[in-house]
Amino acid sequence: MSIRKILVTSALPYANGPIHIGHLVEYIQTDIWVRFQKQRGNVCYYVCADDTHGTPIMLRADMEGITPEALIAQVSKEHQADFAEFGVAFDNYHSTHSEENKMLSSLIYERLRDAGHITSRTITQGYDPVKKMFLSDRFIKGDCPKCGALEQYGDGCEVCGSTYSPTDLKNAVSAISGAKPVPKESVHYFFNLENFNDMLRDWTTAGHLQPEIANKLAEWLDGGLKQWDISRDAPYFGFEIPDAPDKYFYVWLDAPIGYMASFLNLCNKQGLDFDEFWRTDSDAELYHFIGKDIIYFHALFWPAMLDGAAFRTPSAIFAHGFLTVNGEKMSKSRGTFVKARTYLDHLNPEYLRYYFAAKISAGVDDIDLNFDDFSQRVNSDIVGKVVNIASRCSGFISKRFANRLSDNCSEPGLFADFINANDTIAELYETREFAKAMREIMTLADKANAYIDDKKPWLLAKEEGKDQELHDVCSMGLNLFRVLAAYLKPVLPALVKEAEQFLAIESQHWVTGLQPLEGHTINEFKPLMTRVEADKIAAIIEASKENLEKTSDKAKTNPKAETKAKQFEAIADTIQIDDFAKLDIRIAKIIKAESVPEADKLLKLTVNIGDETRTVFAGIKSAYKPEDLEGRLTVVLANLAPRKMKFGLSEGMVLAAGPGGKDIFVLSPDEGAVAGMRVK
Ligand code: MSP
Ligand code: ZN
Repeated sequence: MSIRKILVTSALPYANGPIHIGHLVEYIQTDIWVRFQKQRGNVCYYVCADDTHGTPIMLRADMEGITPEALIAQVSKEHQADFAEFGVAFDNYHSTHSEENKMLSSLIYERLRDAGHITSRTITQGYDPVKKMFLSDRFIKGDCPKCGALEQYGDGCEVCGSTYSPTDLKNAVSAISGAKPVPKESVHYFFNLENFNDMLRDWTTAGHLQPEIANKLAEWLDGGLKQWDISRDAPYFGFEIPDAPDKYFYVWLDAPIGYMASFLNLCNKQGLDFDEFWRTDSDAELYHFIGKDIIYFHALFWPAMLDGAAFRTPSAIFAHGFLTVNGEKMSKSRGTFVKARTYLDHLNPEYLRYYFAAKISAGVDDIDLNFDDFSQRVNSDIVGKVVNIASRCSGFISKRFANRLSDNCSEPGLFADFINANDTIAELYETREFAKAMREIMTLADKANAYIDDKKPWLLAKEEGKDQELHDVCSMGLNLFRVLAAYLKPVLPALVKEAEQFLAIESQHWVTGLQPLEGHTINEFKPLMTRVEADKIAAIIEASKENLEKTSDKAKTNPKAETKAKQFEAIADTIQIDDFAKLDIRIAKIIKAESVPEADKLLKLTVNIGDETRTVFAGIKSAYKPEDLEGRLTVVLANLAPRKMKFGLSEGMVLAAGPGGKDIFVLSPDEGAVAGMRVK
């Protein structure tokens, strides 16, 4: 079989929130597929990047008092650390805020413009006179014109489900400043998607899409294609449009170009040929793994943009469903909105890789993570079936045969059965039917265990003259284990690496033509994976619930949710002077500071506020060691209604400044300030 050249992408995660387990469905799925391709000997590059542009990122940076560049640099580090620990092995991870992306975005725009696919015209939009910026639909809120529900967003009502334009909202206000939006004119640039009607009709029915997606697309195409607004007015964090000062590319214009930009960055680093993958007659394959929420962008806009700019179009778009947890949407109050980092704090990432693999199919159905099922699957399949084969056999090989395998493969037929399964398993990996692939592999694991049960090495070990048979059976078991490890390598790279060390073999390729190990010396066995502990899962849920109490938690499930949550954070209603007078803000002396073991962000502070001592829980554990706080002064809101928290009653609120993480600052000791002083 000839070597394929394959370029693979996952959707670029937004740079304004942490990676969560919903995202991981996609990155783990893609990573498994890529690892499989590489194991097969294909040339395969997996590139991704942070999606950094747009209003939410600009506003969040604003709010944190840092530049968008500083914000995206920080988030990029966190995203990459999360991915690395989950074994998601990109060949390159870049940023849409990069030179390569700027250059390619301009190039594509100019080619589209020169081919007559861009038009500009004046539109009227809501404008925030306080913030001095145009407001997209999601940044205007007001009362629903249909049902009167309060606080609905400009693009539709979440209560009655009707859609409308923001000008229809009653009592509309800017979600950013609270000011009343004024209508204002501005020139916008549009991509003439309707020029690609025929091209898209062909492309969407030519086998590049899953059948259910192709059907959806046919509906959209029948509904008629509209011009796509690709410009935004300053202020906007993004790239300025080359021939239009103060106009910026809308984030979704340069985001998919970020795939190319990340690959170009890799090409420049490794001396690869970019054009070989992107020219219209390229023989390389190009695949985009995405969630079903962003199909419109990938299956309509993106192929049209590429076609219009004389680049190749994708070989296929692989869309997947959404993650639910215990049968419901991930929820912060239920503690099922689990950040990648929170999971990593408690559990082995390969448990989740296996569990997702055991659930993923080629379709777009949602995937449910059920925590009971999760423990049970991992414990019974990986620990109980696969690793068990090695632990059952290795003891005898070590104690009785000095870690040397038998010279003789006693069951060549059984070994051949294992090898012969490889075509089926490869086909299932190739077609992203991972759940079926895992089932095939577990059927083989069952067979291996049945073989050992049948031969009963533990009895052979006690009988006279059965040494050879004992040696053969255990060696056979380990040879079967080796084949299973090769099959599981795309899913469990870390476990299989350790298995390879134990077996003293090179990193395994796909098993076609594999011969059994004979007379081969292996290493001492170490437990390769332990069982999932139920209390760890409880701890994850608990820690995820706690996230609710933190204002720094920006994790969102989807762009709409992100924008929405962003809006809540950005609302800055003004207060009157008598509102301010109600606040009893005082200098407080920290008498005692203790960490709250169950809460990763909270410290329990005992503070003196002049006339009394209070207990206050403060989310500043990331910035201070408890012992460093004792004796210091801080500012406390003293007349906040006491709040019952999981760990006790909080009788006030510590006011500290800073962007978060390690940078949160309370007051230093200062000679003039004493506990009890009121802040005016
Ligand atoms: N930035 C855009 C993608 C631009 S691609 C040129 C975006 N970012 S995202 O962070 O919201 O999502 C990244 C990917 O994760 C998307 O493919 C999205 O569908 C997927 N998922 C986000 N939440 C998910 C679940 N809860 N479940 C499964 N996949 C999810 O969209
Ligand atoms: Zn309504």
